[in-house]
Amino acid sequence: TIKGVIFDLDGVLVDTACLHYEAWKKIADKLNISFSEKDNEKLKGVSRKDSLDIILSQGTEYFSEGEKSQLLLNKNNDYLTLVNQINKNDVLGGVVKLIEELKCKGMKISLGSASKNARLILELTGLYHYFDYIVDGNMVVKAKPAPDVFLMGAELLGLSPSECLVFEDAQSGVQAALAAGMKVVGVGEYALLHQATFVVPNLIGFSIEDYIK
Ligand code: BG6
Ligand code: MG
Repeated sequence: TIKGVIFDLDGVLVDTACLHYEAWKKIADKLNISFSEKDNEKLKGVSRKDSLDIILSQGTEYFSEGEKSQLLLNKNNDYLTLVNQINKNDVLGGVVKLIEELKCKGMKISLGSASKNARLILELTGLYHYFDYIVDGNMVVKAKPAPDVFLMGAELLGLSPSECLVFEDAQSGVQAALAAGMKVVGVGEYALLHQATFVVPNLIGFSIEDYIK
């Protein structure tokens, strides 16, 4: 049985996936590298550094480590400008109701995010206090699709992987959860997330009842 839930952040709890895209798009445009919303799917769940490498690999130019550091800094500054405008209203539909249902049932919840900005976003959206533990991009060495971020979450919760259920919107995140030996609810398009144990289009009206047996 499921005793704890591990949530991804961007694109599952908060509508920040589009803000990441907007900030990356600005960088790609400046470098004359084509970068579409479809290309962006591959970046979801992927660390900031790996995301930049994926974008640069679509161009032909060489970038030194110093230049890449500057681009990462620019991206994060642009992203933070967008993120600082978010609030409670940017929490995705069904999320607060689901978290309250979990709390009522005495289930523990943890965050499993690749983002180094995770704590800030949880604070801005008023979700911070719900979490028993937070595992973010500052704490994990091996990023998704490696299972580390979720395994660390399970360990903190004091649960075995089979007792945890993960919520993910990214292909890399679904793979990470499965590699950790956990069941995973893919939140988004079935065509992209069909590897997940379950797939739902969003969390509106989602009740944990049917998924914890
Ligand atoms: C993930 C996002 O949650 O965090 C990625 O899906 C993002 O798009 C990654 O690149 C790292 O985020 P940040 O905030 O540390 O740049
Ligand atoms: Mg995500």
